[in-house]
Amino acid sequence: MRKVAVVGAGQVGSTTAMRVAEQGIADVSLIDIYGDLARGKALDIAQSLPLTSSPSRVVGGSDYALAEGSDVVVVTAGFPRSPGMSRSDLLEKNAAVVREVVEKLSAAAPAAVMIMVTNPLDEMTRLAWRVTGWDRKRVMGMAGLLDGSRLACFAAAELGVPPGQVQPMVLGSHGDAMLPLPRLTSVAGVPLSELLPPAGLEELNARTREGGAEIVSLLKQGSAYYAPSACVARMVRAVLMDEGMQVVASVRLEGEYGLEDVFLGVPVVLGWGGWKRIVELPLLQREREELEACAATLRERAVELDGWLSGIDA
Ligand code: APR
Repeated sequence: MRKVAVVGAGQVGSTTAMRVAEQGIADVSLIDIYGDLARGKALDIAQSLPLTSSPSRVVGGSDYALAEGSDVVVVTAGFPRSPGMSRSDLLEKNAAVVREVVEKLSAAAPAAVMIMVTNPLDEMTRLAWRVTGWDRKRVMGMAGLLDGSRLACFAAAELGVPPGQVQPMVLGSHGDAMLPLPRLTSVAGVPLSELLPPAGLEELNARTREGGAEIVSLLKQGSAYYAPSACVARMVRAVLMDEGMQVVASVRLEGEYGLEDVFLGVPVVLGWGGWKRIVELPLLQREREELEACAATLRERAVELDGWLSGIDA
């Protein structure tokens, strides 16, 4: 049986563990700084599996030995956004957690593929890549799939079609520098940009950009986890099954799209061992410039994060 470790037994982590275990595609270890929380959630999930006939074993605790030999590791540890808090506000708070978690995980599962979920996503993924020193193809962030799923959900409701008929395309950063692309989003083969007027498109784009914040403000406590965990579990499956599935994920660009040394959301082909290649979409000049602007924002935040890291290391 393949093995997946999920760190952070909160809402996103435990729901991800459940979704992976229910599919019976891997044994799952759930790790949290609060070992009993992880133990309790793991036990609860394990007790649901006889009903789904899943052969997966699920264990929990605070010891990283549980992650040993994992094929995929997922990082959801950290603090969720509270109302009024921007993703950037979370940066330093979660950087300390992510650094510690990633160091321990990379020691326990040095050959794994790492999927980051903790926000701010693109920055935390870059931090994880730096801390591990792994090949860039083994470290990625889950965001574009979620942002696309949100766009598909809103577009389907607006057009009165099933959500599965919408093939979304959302690039860029998971946050204010997100880049929904209606021209490359298709509804049963027709570009979304031909189905809605510009004002309607802008409304959908804005709601997609604010998709996480809308849920935060409704929940009052915590942030989204059903859709995020569905996306992580989908990516885990694509890796474990070597599916060659194309998803948008936050990865390090080294010249692709004309961009260097930045983590942001672009389409990648996922399979065993991580992402296999970056798909370069034929962007219009305007779209390319928007992606460059997004990269510039993320580079600024990377400088901020590097300052924090060197302060710690000094
Ligand atoms: N080591 C291990 N686990 C930790 C650590 C640590 N150093 N610090 C915090 N955790 C655990 C917490 O104990 C908690 O159980 O991370 C878990 C986070 O769970 P929640 O607070 O429920 O947050 P959740 O909604 O799951 O979101 C987690 O994913 O989508 C993102 O923005 C979201 O960054 C947030 C992350």
